Amino acid sequence: MNNKFITFEGGEGAGKTSVISELSKFLEGAGFNLITTREPGGIKIAENIRQIILDPNNTAMDGRTEALLYAAARRQHLVEKVIPELNLGKIVLCDRFLDSSLVYQGIARKIGLDEIFSINNFAIENCMPKLTFYFDIDPEIGLARIAKNKNREINRLDMENLDFHYSVREGYLKLLTMFPERIVSIDANRPLEEVITETKEKIMSYLQVM
Ligand code: TYD
Repeated sequence: MNNKFITFEGGEGAGKTSVISELSKFLEGAGFNLITTREPGGIKIAENIRQIILDPNNTAMDGRTEALLYAAARRQHLVEKVIPELNLGKIVLCDRFLDSSLVYQGIARKIGLDEIFSINNFAIENCMPKLTFYFDIDPEIGLARIAKNKNREINRLDMENLDFHYSVREGYLKLLTMFPERIVSIDANRPLEEVITETKEKIMSYLQVM
C-alpha cells in the first residue's frame, strides 16, 4: 500500500510545488488515479496548525514546540487523508513529509535527528513513503527565485538567514546518504522544464515496475 505513497522534498525555491502540479496533470493524463496534498496542511485541522506554525508574528515559538506542531499536523493529515486515499488504491503525491522535520527541526534548528525521529515515530506509526524526490538547489539560487515570485506568501521560515538554508541543504544531503534506497535526488538548479522532464521519467519507471 505504501508503494503508492510518494513525497517531495527540497529547500525554499526548488520548484517542488510547480513540479508536483505538472506531474499530477501528466499522470492523470496517463490514466493513474491519484491525489496531491501538502504538509503542513492538506485538511482543515492541519491547515489550522499550519497557520500557527508559519505565522510571522509567532516569533516566540520554541523549536520543540514547532517540531511537535509539525508532528501533530502530520498525524492528523495521515489518518484523515493519506491513509484513507491509499486504502482506496490511489497514488498519494505529498509536498513535504517527515524528511522536512528531520532536516528543518532536527538539523537546521539543531534539535537532533533522534529526537525528531522519536516524536515522529509516535505520530506516523511506520507509515513511510516508499519513494521520495529531493529537489536539490543552491540556497542562494532558491531564495532569489522566491524573491522574484511576488505572489508567494512570506512565512516565518523564509525569514531565516542564509546559514539556516545552507544547513537545510546539508541536512538533505545527509538524509540522501542515510536512505539511498528511498530518496532520489534531482538537480533543481536547472530550468524548471528540465526538472519536470526528469521527474516524469523517474516516476514513470517507478510506477511501471511497482
Ligand atoms: P511552504 O510555504 O509550504 O513552503 P514550500 O513551498 O517551500 O514547501 O511552507 C512550509 C515550510 O515549513 C517550509 O519552510 C518548510 C517548513 N517545514 C518544516 O520546517 N518542518 C516540517 O516538518 C514541514 C512539513 C515543513
